[in-house]
Amino acid sequence: MLDDLATLDRIDQHGTRRILAEFPTQCRRARTLAATPPPSGARPRLVVVAGMGGSAASGDVLAACGVDRVDVPILVHRDYGLPAAVGRDALVIASSYSGETEEALSAAQTAIARGVPLVAITAGGALAALAVARGLTRVMLPTGLMPRMALGYLLLPALAVLRGCGVEVATAADEDEAVETLEALAGALSFERPAADNHAKQIALEIGARVPVVYAAGPLAGVAYRWKTDLEEFAKTFALAGALPEMNHNEIEAWRTPDAKGLHLVLLRDPAEPPEIARRYAVMRELVEPAAGGLSETWAHGRGRLARLLSLTYLGQWVAYYLAALRGSDPWAVPLLDEMKRRLRGGSP
Ligand code: PA5
Repeated sequence: MLDDLATLDRIDQHGTRRILAEFPTQCRRARTLAATPPPSGARPRLVVVAGMGGSAASGDVLAACGVDRVDVPILVHRDYGLPAAVGRDALVIASSYSGETEEALSAAQTAIARGVPLVAITAGGALAALAVARGLTRVMLPTGLMPRMALGYLLLPALAVLRGCGVEVATAADEDEAVETLEALAGALSFERPAADNHAKQIALEIGARVPVVYAAGPLAGVAYRWKTDLEEFAKTFALAGALPEMNHNEIEAWRTPDAKGLHLVLLRDPAEPPEIARRYAVMRELVEPAAGGLSETWAHGRGRLARLLSLTYLGQWVAYYLAALRGSDPWAVPLLDEMKRRLRGGSP
């Protein structure tokens, strides 16, 4: 069924697969988007990426790239306001694709009130209006995407902003390699590539009707969370995500339940993972795999961490897309999410 374009066309009413196929091109274009007016260039003591959902995911990638590379902590703030630790020597990146997300707007207003340097990354809305009115540094993104499909636009300008203020979590060469890795993957995962030779279609078929449980370790843990949120939004399925080694200390017990037969383990592996993590995966497979309904294991592509993070994220988006197709769900639409926002704006039930 995943190889039948007529069926995909019927389910994928908004052409989501074309947007996914263009993700490497989006990343290339994103590298040309400038921050205006240019940021001050002062090196912050702390970086906070404030956003929600698809617009917070860029922060997870920045934090994962920077964790053992720069001496500046990078926090991802998914809430209203800002943590107390965020003062004038920090940098806040308010990230909201729509520019209408009240938590991100609240963080931006808090940054302004505290005198914290602020950069807005958005395609418009109230956040863009605020940035223009205040003369704040902003990166204006192309419109017309769903936020979760705009990771390239949300991420690459943020990388450039951080580089510009001396927080180099990824070099320009890392970005080159990441985009080339995505370009190589795009053909291998696209809808034209039959399931027999398409890793994303294969994982979606392996998950089938089960609930996916996605695990990754260390700096890739955010990618497991991203798989979970993409599976939820594209395929409208419950999905779980966990991080090694922490889940070995608690969640592993849950695999003793007979319900585990309804779950499908997805292990996101990193060729650069340390031997102690590889050992944990080996022992986990011994203990947990027999309880699970099934298991898929996949490996990141690329040399640099940015490439490895983005390659696994991109694979996850395609898996979520194909799982949506298998379950007959339009991968673009998020009606409950939209309805939630409508009612919070005062719309009636
Ligand atoms: O994927 C989505 O559509 C959501 O997770 C949004 O990203 C989230 O609701 C925040 O909206 P925005 O990205 O426009 O700030």
